[in-house]
Amino acid sequence: MSLPIVVLISGSGSNLQALIDQSLSGHLDIDIKAVISNKADAFGLKRAEQAGIPTHHLNHKEFESRESFDAALQTCIDQHQPQLVVLAGFMRILSEGFTRHYQGRMFNIHPSLLPKYKGLNTHQRAIDAGEKFHGVSVHFVSAELDAGAVIVQAKTPIETDETVDTLSQKVHKLEHIIYPLAVKWFSEARLKELNNKAILDETPLAETGFAYN
Ligand code: GRF
Repeated sequence: MSLPIVVLISGSGSNLQALIDQSLSGHLDIDIKAVISNKADAFGLKRAEQAGIPTHHLNHKEFESRESFDAALQTCIDQHQPQLVVLAGFMRILSEGFTRHYQGRMFNIHPSLLPKYKGLNTHQRAIDAGEKFHGVSVHFVSAELDAGAVIVQAKTPIETDETVDTLSQKVHKLEHIIYPLAVKWFSEARLKELNNKAILDETPLAETGFAYN
């Protein structure tokens, strides 16, 4: 049976597109039950519609608190009964109860080599710090921001003339490879989380996850 998933976005949705493409080409056995955005104008909603995937828009500004928005989001997600929730550029800090509800079955993708550069503006911060490498991590979501067990990382060198634009393009290309890869492992029941560690094929992964390259 295809793995039922729900994808949460706030923007362009190129990672969503990578999942749709891999699914259509038969490389990934998933069933994207719904795409949910907190932004009405997220381009990813159009991508979903084009692929015939049901969409929801849930405006966080219409809720009094983070907890009340997250509760509505949870209800919206759970009506689709996903086995995995995929955060793909979903620009919200999540409440503890929400993350606990999806413990071990929610992924996020973060554009840095975690545990380095949690939070925003990761490309600029890596360039400013004179890093030789930058990259991207897919991780299980925990209550603490960008701190859950890392599943897989991919890296790319930072050249001397590197800009935020060139670097983010390189990182995005890697995102579109490793996010579907992590979802594939999960869909094949090869991946799980145990005691805040990612376990692949019964083997605990390093703190920085599986090294893609
Ligand atoms: C990506 O850079 C991802 O790492 C971050 O948000 C961005 C989403 O890009 N979490 P897209 O909407 O999938 O194109």
